[in-house]
Formats: sequence, C-alpha cells, structure tokens
Amino acid sequence: MFDTMTLTKVVGGLCGTLLVFLLGGWAADIIYSGGGGHGEVAQAYSIPVEEGGEGGGAQEEAVPFEEIYASADAGAGEGVWRNCRSCHALEEGVNGTGPSLHGVVDREVGAYPGYSYSGALKAVADVWSPENLDGFLAAPRDYAPGTKMTYNGLKDAEDRANLIAYLATIGG
Ligand code: HEC
Repeated sequence: MFDTMTLTKVVGGLCGTLLVFLLGGWAADIIYSGGGGHGEVAQAYSIPVEEGGEGGGAQEEAVPFEEIYASADAGAGEGVWRNCRSCHALEEGVNGTGPSLHGVVDREVGAYPGYSYSGALKAVADVWSPENLDGFLAAPRDYAPGTKMTYNGLKDAEDRANLIAYLATIGG
C-alpha cells in the first residue's frame, strides 16, 4: 500500500504545511509588532496616566535619593538634628543611649569604640554611606530588624537628606 511515491507525497505535504505555518507566523510578527499600529494605540492611553499626578506624595518618594541629597541643605539639617540628640552626641568619644555620631557619614557600621551594639545594624550594612543612612533613618526598625534604636524614623526625604548633609560636616 505504502510505496515510496505515496510516502514522499505525504512527507512533502506535511513539510509544505509546516512551512506555511512558519511563514505565516513570521509575517504576522512583522505586521503586528513591526508595524507599530497597536503599540502606538496602547501608548496613547498610558501617557495621560503618567501625567495624572494624583498621588503627590508617591511622586515625591520616586525622586532618587542622590538627587535630593545633591541639593541638600546642611544648615536646615542642623535643625533636624534635635530629633536625635536625646540619644546621640556629636562629640568624639561620647556615647549615650546611642553611639557618638562624630564622623558617622562613611563610618563603618556598628563599630564605634566603647559602644555595645545590638548587632542588628552590622547584619544589614557595612558602611554608613549617605544612601544607607537615608534608608536606615526613614524607618530604623524596618531597615535593621532587631535594632535597639527605638526611633520611629524621619518620614520626610528632604529632612533626611538635610540631616545627613549636616552630619557629614561633623568630624570624619
Ligand atoms: C531613642 C534613642 C535614639 C534616638 C532618638 C535616635 N537614635 Fe540612633 N541609635 C540609638 C541606639 C540605641 C543605637 C544603637 C542601635 C543598635 O545597636 O542596634 C543607634 C544607632 C544609630 C546609628 C548607627 C551608628 C553606628 O555606629 O553604626 C546611627 C547612624 C544613628 N543611630 C543615627 C541616628 C539619627 C540620625 C537620629 C535622629 C534622626 C537617631 N539616631 C535617633 C538610639 C537612638
């Protein structure tokens, strides 16, 4: 029943069908994604969403820290320091409830002489870079679970940047 000729026709037919499918798919790709018609329609809808700007607060959070820090005001940060001085001193070697923050910017984490740390800070960071300080001060106990710094955090990103700029002027 199956002579060579029949087999050749069957195989040839299958290959031809496959080729049509492949070419068809390829052509569809070109028409739908290369042509850009659909893509542009979708974009036209997304633009007003971006400009909607309802959550002013959320947009503020989206500004990268480096940008806020680049225009930080150390003078204003000196005023923010009052949140910290009940527990920290800026003088060298003076530890209170918390360690001295003399030269804390770019200082090794959890390593100030004579202070007994919880160990929670070292577990999450190596150096108090401005970025790390920003993350820690926003929400100390989220950033370093188990820290004994019982401070709720500075919610305002500008306050944090100003304070870090002020701390950077002390020692170091
Ligand atoms: C209620 C007391 C308290 C307040 C207020 C407080 N801290 Fe702390 N802080 C601590 C304690 C305690 C530690 C040690 C944490 C540990 O070992 O887990 C600490 C640790 C730190 C460290 C880590 C220092 C190091 O050597 O690794 C930094 C930085 C810091 N505090 C900054 C601040 C800043 C800035 C403020 C003000 C916005 C502030 N703290 C407010 C008690 C406080």
